Amino acid sequence: MADLSADLGFRTLKNPVITASGTFGYGEEFLPFFDLDLLGAIVLKGIFRQARPGNPPPRLHETPAGLLNSIGLAGPGSAALQEIIRRLHARTPVPIIVNVCGEDDDEFAEVAALFSAMDEVAMLELNISCPNVRQGGACPAQDAGHTARLVRRVKESLHKPLIVKLSPNAADVVAVAQAAQDAGADALSLVNTFLGLAVDLESRRPVFANVYAGLSGPAIKPLALRLVREVCRKAYVPVIGMGGIASGRDVLDYILVGASAVQVGTVSFREPAAAARIAAEVA
Ligand code: SIN
Repeated sequence: MADLSADLGFRTLKNPVITASGTFGYGEEFLPFFDLDLLGAIVLKGIFRQARPGNPPPRLHETPAGLLNSIGLAGPGSAALQEIIRRLHARTPVPIIVNVCGEDDDEFAEVAALFSAMDEVAMLELNISCPNVRQGGACPAQDAGHTARLVRRVKESLHKPLIVKLSPNAADVVAVAQAAQDAGADALSLVNTFLGLAVDLESRRPVFANVYAGLSGPAIKPLALRLVREVCRKAYVPVIGMGGIASGRDVLDYILVGASAVQVGTVSFREPAAAARIAAEVA
């Protein structure tokens, strides 16, 4: 058996395959499909302080080689997620990564501190890159200055490693990556979804209430791979690559351009055990 361990510096994972936030529920939903401990780690769906209904339907729209989503970070709130994490950890030793969200910098810091205090949580991922909560797809990861302030603020009250999840929709993704690592990010993950648009010809209106939505899946892999390579060339912290990964070969592409680990996302929607298959293919 090949040694697949992935060194993130602050932690070594048994293999480089991690599930991407928002595509793997809160972990429990996937327990009937495969042994989660076959993976390097799992990232849970993003969480705010309070429960959120998310955006009105429709929230998903298939494209020829990808998926547009406009979920709007729906979720049960932090207290409910803490209960879920305790249950999940009792059933699997797979490292759990919490994807932290916030309406403002204070909420990001508060939610991060809450989950940082949980023994069951291995590390945190700061979701500063969701394109579906503000008009026009705006998010903190579009701005290097805001990213730096926010990461510094969140790090103040943290006892766990912090991964910062970047957006491909920034004008200069490398500059935002540098700002995040200089502000104290322990690792970077990229890319979140690309801002896209779908039109409904019958109504002559955008498909989504929020107009724009985030594109993921095989269509974005070459675009994401380029951005991951550019960030890896400047990064001194580990980089976790993602975008359109559906096979072990896709994982190796990301590793070859410099990623220390990867996240598998959209493929899990049509093949719930895809992440385990992909980890086996890497071997
Ligand atoms: C969403 O909930 O709208 C997607 C999550 C994300 O892009 O971070």
